[in-house]
Amino acid sequence: MRTIAEFEAAARQHLDPVHYDYFAGGAQDELTLADNEAAYNRLKLLPRVLRGSDKRDLSIELLGTSSSMPILVAPTAFHRLAHADGELATARAAARAGTIMIVSMAATTAIEDVAAAAREVAPDPGLWFQLYLQPDLEFTEAIVRRAENAGVKAFVVTVDSPVLGRRERDDRNDFHDLPPGLVVENLRNLGENRSGGNASHVREIVMSAGLNWDHIAWLRGKTKLPVLIKGVLHAEDARLAVHHGVAGIVVSNHGGRQLDTVPATIDVLPEIASAVGGAIPVLLDGGIRRGTDVVKALALGADAVGVGRPVVWGLAAGGREGVTRVLELLRDDFDQALAMCGGRHPADLTPDQVRR
Ligand code: FNR
Repeated sequence: MRTIAEFEAAARQHLDPVHYDYFAGGAQDELTLADNEAAYNRLKLLPRVLRGSDKRDLSIELLGTSSSMPILVAPTAFHRLAHADGELATARAAARAGTIMIVSMAATTAIEDVAAAAREVAPDPGLWFQLYLQPDLEFTEAIVRRAENAGVKAFVVTVDSPVLGRRERDDRNDFHDLPPGLVVENLRNLGENRSGGNASHVREIVMSAGLNWDHIAWLRGKTKLPVLIKGVLHAEDARLAVHHGVAGIVVSNHGGRQLDTVPATIDVLPEIASAVGGAIPVLLDGGIRRGTDVVKALALGADAVGVGRPVVWGLAAGGREGVTRVLELLRDDFDQALAMCGGRHPADLTPDQVRR
C-alpha cells in the first residue's frame, strides 16, 4: 500500500461497517470533514531552487519532547475497535517511529499499559495525554495524576466539545456503546482493582459546556507538565490562550466531527499563526494525508501536524505494522516534498511558498 487512501480501503475491508462509519464519519452533512482534505488541494506550492540539502533533518522539539518528524499521532478513541492490539500497537509503532503519540483519554487501553508498550520499543517515548476536563474536578485530578505517573510529558485539553457532535452515521447505525469487553479504561474508578474491574464502574466521559479559562488555570495549578488546548479555530481564542499561559495550541475541528460547516483547519491557520506570533507552538490537525499537506501546514505557520484517521486505517489494516507503514509513508512523502521545496529542515518552509 502506497497511499493513505489505499490504507483506508484496506481498513474498510477489515472493519465492521458500523465501526468503519464511526472512524470515518463526521458531524451532520460532513461538509467540514470533506473540506479539511479539499482545502489542501486548493493550495499550490511554490518551490525554491538551488538551496536544499542532501542531509535533511526532519526532527523537531516540542515543549521539551523531541520528535523524529513534525507529524504526530492525534488522539483518537477506541483503538481496540480497529484491532485487537488496540492502543498497544499504536504506541509501539509511534515509539518505533520516534514520534509523539497523543493518547486519547477515551482509549480502550489503560494509560499505564500504553506507556509500558511504548517503553518496550523506546526508552523514553514521547507520550502526551489528551483530556476532556470532567465536571468532577477531583476525578479529573485523579486522571491527571494517573497519566503523570505513567510518564506522559504533556496534557492536551480538548476544548471543541462542549457537547458531542451530531454524528448521523452513528445515529443511523445505532452505534452508541462499545461492544462487550471494551471500555474506556482510563475512566475506571480509582482505587479499584484494574484487572478485576467491573464495566459498570467505568464512568462515561462527560462533555461540559460550562468549561472556561478558569478550568485551564485550575489544571495548570495541578500539574507542572505543559498544558495545550486542542480545538482552537478563532484567532481571538488563540490570543487568549497565550494570555492565559497555555503552553501550545492545536488548531483543530476534531476532524469534522464536532460543529459542521466550520472552516478547514488549514484555512484558518494563517490568521491563528499571526495572532500567536511565535509566542507558543501551534499544531494543526485535520485532513493531512500527504507529505505536501504537511509542507503546506508548516509553511503557513504550524510547528507540527497531527494525523487521526490515517493511523486508525493503518491499525485496522495491519496492527502495529500497519501503523508503522502509515507513519513511514507520511515521513517519506514529507521528506520528498521538503526536498523539492528546497528545505533542509521543517522550519525552512515559509508562507510565501504557498499560493491560493
Ligand atoms: C477523534 N478525535 C479525537 N480528539 C480528541 O481530542 N479526543 C478523542 O478521543 C478523539 N477521538 C477521535 C476518534 C476518531 C475516530 C476520530 C476520527 C477523531 C479527533 C482527532 O484528534 C483529530 O482532531 C482528527 O482526527 C484530525 O483529523 P484527521 O487526521 O482524522 O483528518
